[in-house]
Amino acid sequence: MSALIIDGKAVAREVREGVARSVAELRRPPGLATVLVGEDPASAIYVANKRKLCTAAGIRDLHRQVPADIAQGELEALVEELNGDEDVDGILVQLPLPDHLEARAVVDRIDPAKDVDGLTTFNAGLLAQGRQGLQPCTPAGVMLLLEQAGIDLAGKHAVVIGRSDLVGRPMAQLLTQANATVTVCHSRTKDLVAETSRADVLIAAAGVPRLIGADHVQPGATVIDVGIHRTDTGMCGDVDFDEVREVAGALTPVPGGVGPMTIALLLRNTVQAASRREEMSP
Ligand code: GUN
Repeated sequence: MSALIIDGKAVAREVREGVARSVAELRRPPGLATVLVGEDPASAIYVANKRKLCTAAGIRDLHRQVPADIAQGELEALVEELNGDEDVDGILVQLPLPDHLEARAVVDRIDPAKDVDGLTTFNAGLLAQGRQGLQPCTPAGVMLLLEQAGIDLAGKHAVVIGRSDLVGRPMAQLLTQANATVTVCHSRTKDLVAETSRADVLIAAAGVPRLIGADHVQPGATVIDVGIHRTDTGMCGDVDFDEVREVAGALTPVPGGVGPMTIALLLRNTVQAASRREEMSP
């Protein structure tokens, strides 16, 4: 039987509509400062999409474009300037950065209250302790997709492939908080098929095109594909969609699965940051 295809576009649209309603209830429109360093084509497309949907939801677009050869100190100074700017509720420094820059130091300059990517050490620490904070957009989006698809995670075996700060690590923490039993696989995992084929819920965030085939998947499992790759034959994810759809119980497509959720959660985090800041100010 063919898998249920989880429609990320539809869920993301609902989230964005909710964001637009919340924006209308704030004293002033929230502001999001995306920071793009250089002209990397893929990053430029991602940031353009974020800006377009941010404006459509009533969030002010306070984008900053800086040259690829910007010095570390200059970029950190820009982050400090945005931290101090009353109009800015959210700051997102698009990653990856050019090789001469140290991304961790730049990200950790972001005021945790404006860290709408949830990537600062402070917010990562809150998440690790299961406390309230701004959460990374992609894993938070995956959790919402699972919820909307009616997947109950309690007691389930979830396998996450990947251990990045952006996806794998926070994903494992969110699944643990939802009472799943979590295994994290990575490039040094000895027998990937043995691990993934025991998963009730499989999250593929390895960054390897079509890594996951039918052999990796337990019949009836839920498979979430976080990968996105442009190949000669078009876009694909970390999952071989045509093979896996014949085995899985539910599956996200690429495009139209996790991708739209990442942006929707960024907008939701921006509203969350703005309303917290509003509560704190007289
Ligand atoms: N590059 C790819 N995905 C992301 C993301 O979610 N946030 C940031 N800042 N950079 C990215």
